[in-house]
Amino acid sequence: MFPRVIINLEKYRHNLRFLLDICHDKSISMMAVSKVFCADHNLVNIMIEEKVDFIADSRIQNLAIINCDIPKVLLRLPMIGEVSKVVKYSDISLNSELSTVTALNEEASKVGKVHGIIIMIDLGDLREGIFDENEVYDFVKNTLTLSNISIRGIGVNLTCYGGVIPTNSLLNKLVEYKNNIESKFDIELDIISGGNSSTIDLLMNEAIPLGINNLRLGESLVLGRETAYGDYIDKTYDDVFTLEVDIIEVKEKPSVPIGQIGMNAFGKVPQFIDNGNILRAILAIGKQDVDHLELIPFDTIKLIGSSSDHIIADLSNASSIYEVGDTMLFKLTYSSILSLMTSKYVVKTYE
Ligand SMILES: Cc1ncc(COP(=O)(O)O)c(C=O)c1O
Repeated sequence: MFPRVIINLEKYRHNLRFLLDICHDKSISMMAVSKVFCADHNLVNIMIEEKVDFIADSRIQNLAIINCDIPKVLLRLPMIGEVSKVVKYSDISLNSELSTVTALNEEASKVGKVHGIIIMIDLGDLREGIFDENEVYDFVKNTLTLSNISIRGIGVNLTCYGGVIPTNSLLNKLVEYKNNIESKFDIELDIISGGNSSTIDLLMNEAIPLGINNLRLGESLVLGRETAYGDYIDKTYDDVFTLEVDIIEVKEKPSVPIGQIGMNAFGKVPQFIDNGNILRAILAIGKQDVDHLELIPFDTIKLIGSSSDHIIADLSNASSIYEVGDTMLFKLTYSSILSLMTSKYVVKTYE
């Protein structure tokens, strides 16, 4: 059945083991992130078998279906309306709003639990986190009055919204926050979480500051790639996930539509370059499942457009001959893994 994402479980296990060993060698714990593959059961099982330190996801629905003794971490700041699920299905959540932490505390008291939090500090990427230094200390002070919340640590997220690259001096600011909080409030923070796959470059180059003892890794595990510079990580696989799609039409046609050009299916006026007649194929997958620009063909074909349920390929320079009923294979990017794994129309298979 096509389209299907083919997941190579042993390649994922290899990437995970490889990076987990590197982290542990440097006394850094790993939160292995499952959201890009919607907490796929077989991949989460590998996390459990390889004994990652934490399993982390941005969606509470994903954490709800994971049953294990490994602590579970909610990566996205909780919505106030979901605090009961957050307390039920996660051990730790990332937080930056006192009102949310107060709501978590109320829920945790109600059910007799202590919920852990990591306080997120914004060091310039401008997504989540407390930006103002004094607000960080006020936040800690107020949180310490909440009986059913335990401050497990602090964290930063970088290279997401603002593209800010983690540097030794930037992450040292997080370590300074740790030192200041510990001395001001006479507490110990056990998790100092220095970012995501964009911190791997520092990790590999022995440039991660002492004091950072946790990373939250998703993309590097699935694509063998660090995300500060987009470099591949030696000795890892970049093809844990591939896509196989069915061809439903192959015909020679012009490269430019015939007639007066109005809007396409998505309300945009398309533009075309005239390359004369070309051999075109239609693939049975579309924008509802994936952005065609995020698919990397194995063959020398070009994806030239898509609508909801169709992707159009130019086969002019293909090295194979394709017929209706054949399939075409693609490597994937982070964004295409994310959307394909989310699409219920795409079958997931394992090898
Ligand atoms: C807060 C947070 N930390 C870590 C990650 C993992 O990032 P990456 O996939 O770049 O390793 C994400 C995204 O999945 C995130 O939102």
